[in-house]
Amino acid sequence: MAKRHVNAVNQIDERIDLQRNAWLVTEAVLLAMNASLREIGSRRNRQIKKQHHTIIANRAELLRLLQLNSELENRVERASRLAALESEQFLHRVGADLHDGPAQLIGFALLHLSSLAPCLGEPDKVGEAMEIIAGIHGALAEAMDEVRSLCAGLTMPRIALLPIADALRSVIQEHEQRTGTVVRSDIAILPPDTPHFVKASLCRLVQEGLNNAYRHAGGQGQSVKAWTTGDAIAVEVADDGPGIAPLASMGLQGGLGLVGLLNRIESLGGTMKILSIPTGGTRLTATLSTMAHEGSAGQ
Ligand SMILES: Nc1ncnc2c1ncn2[C@@H]1O[C@H](COP(=O)(O)OP(=O)(O)O)[C@@H](O)[C@H]1O
Ligand SMILES: [Mg+2]
Repeated sequence: MAKRHVNAVNQIDERIDLQRNAWLVTEAVLLAMNASLREIGSRRNRQIKKQHHTIIANRAELLRLLQLNSELENRVERASRLAALESEQFLHRVGADLHDGPAQLIGFALLHLSSLAPCLGEPDKVGEAMEIIAGIHGALAEAMDEVRSLCAGLTMPRIALLPIADALRSVIQEHEQRTGTVVRSDIAILPPDTPHFVKASLCRLVQEGLNNAYRHAGGQGQSVKAWTTGDAIAVEVADDGPGIAPLASMGLQGGLGLVGLLNRIESLGGTMKILSIPTGGTRLTATLSTMAHEGSAGQ
């Protein structure tokens, strides 16, 4: 009886041990699962954080590229606007050079061609006719030189090596020779090393001013003055003719000469004034800094 009782107790103990072992195993498995789930979770977290940083960095890079792109777009737009402005200024300058140079000389030749007709068939006017023909020949040859130098991109190459005072004197002399008229001149001591385009612009002003004085004022009282004022050179071309209407009132009837000169001088940052003197005559004055640089328009 007692033995049966002991066996029963032993069986119960064994069952309890088995039960405990099963729980321990279950708990260990659960703990292991828990630990691995935590590990998986924290690995996920780390990955998500890493991806988040990458997304933020990519976003910043994208914003930087967008900014760069819009800056480049602005730069391209500015460059194309500048190119359009420069080509417009270039066309104006070429137009003004064609007008002030070859067109004036061809105009002069045409003017003298008409005075040749009365000499034809008159034996006693042969000498006069030869003189007119020589004048026409000279003007056309000069026009040809001007066209050639314009094709080569040069303005008034014959004055390139001269200091501005001598360049102005040579323009005056050419006008006197071509027209057979006299020009009073008063050229002060001027800086010897002005940039070519400053020199060329002021020489063009004298050339056009004197051409106008000859064509529209009969060459009466033609005069040229030049002096320095601060870092600029001022030039004045005057005559005692009938005077001139204000430039604005000329509208489309006026030629290209004065408008071209105004554009040329102002595009270099200079000033130009056209005055009709009350006692008669016209006075054209321009002031241009020797520091002027090409393409200073709009600055
Ligand atoms: N010195 C001047 N005396 C009188 N009128 C002038 C003088 N200069 C210019 N003009 C007038 O101004 C106009 C415009 O001159 P300009 O622009 O040089 O053109 P263009 O000489 O080719 O006619 C001339 O047509 C003329 O009527
Ligand atoms: Mg003119």
